[in-house]
Amino acid sequence: MLRRLTTDQPESFAFTNANMAWAQEQIKKYPEGRQASAIIALLWRAQEQEGWLSKPAIEGIADMLGMAYIRALEVATFYFMFQLKPVGAVAHIQICGTTSCMLCGSEDLIAVCQEEINEKPYLPSADGKLSWEEVECLGACTNAPMAQVGKDYYEDLTADSLRGLLKEFAAGNVPKPGPQNGRFAAEPKGGLTSLKDKTGEAHNGSVGLAVEIGDSVRRIDGSEVPLWVAPVPVGQQEAVASKPAPKPKAKPKKAKAAPAVAPSDADKPALLSAPEGEADDLKKISGVGPKLEKELNGAGVFHFSQIASWTEKEIAWADENLVSFKGRISRDNWVSQAKELAT
Ligand code: FES
Repeated sequence: MLRRLTTDQPESFAFTNANMAWAQEQIKKYPEGRQASAIIALLWRAQEQEGWLSKPAIEGIADMLGMAYIRALEVATFYFMFQLKPVGAVAHIQICGTTSCMLCGSEDLIAVCQEEINEKPYLPSADGKLSWEEVECLGACTNAPMAQVGKDYYEDLTADSLRGLLKEFAAGNVPKPGPQNGRFAAEPKGGLTSLKDKTGEAHNGSVGLAVEIGDSVRRIDGSEVPLWVAPVPVGQQEAVASKPAPKPKAKPKKAKAAPAVAPSDADKPALLSAPEGEADDLKKISGVGPKLEKELNGAGVFHFSQIASWTEKEIAWADENLVSFKGRISRDNWVSQAKELAT
């Protein structure tokens, strides 16, 4: 399927302050030089915020991660989960059309979407609130036919139950996700035949969590309180406060302090104009990727033995002058690694 950016693009994109803070935390999870690994998380958050991914959003995120625009565009256009044009402002209905769901009636569900939303997938309804698409198996085949709406699954659907759900969404309500035919989870339609004592809960695990979080179709602006730091209910703060404080974690070892005086040219390590024999595979040093290896070779570093012999001052000079990511030579302890590799 050809996936292209829509021609009708907004002027700009900006994360909300809270989403920007969240994005910066995601980027910190990756080692220096590997920030591009945060691309999917950031694109996804942009889509959660706006409902779809615009060109300014993709390019803005590429800038944040130091990536060429084409690299970010490759990711955004490759994965079908990214919507490249505006979808329904309230909900985007993803109908599973794969084998189990098709055998159980997904074609009827698609017909309802065409009738109630838009003849064509991805295009919003007349009031702009809903849109739909057909997707591949969503892994809920035992509850076929089903649809993903926003972040949650609506299962065991019929044309009538889907029609009812669409009405609810359009009216601004969020119907309870999960099986829509009275089933608790994925038990036999005739009822449980074993483990019958497990039926005391109001909802199955997925539905319970969906109801608790309540963001099935909500835009995420970053101000949401994640469940794992949910506020302590009034009246229980004291009990929490009287709990013994957890033992402080051992402090991570401090990195060696940078020399107070900036390295001079006298501290420059010996560099070669060409490798002596076959060049070593510098990528074996943790923290050195293909790009960095190229930079090192270009500067005259080809062998583990060269790096292994660097003195403190030479490391400082190399950190300043040799590679594009300052500080990583000491931080990743290249010299010890190179010594081991050289032997
Ligand atoms: S076939 Fe529809 S969820 Fe698997």
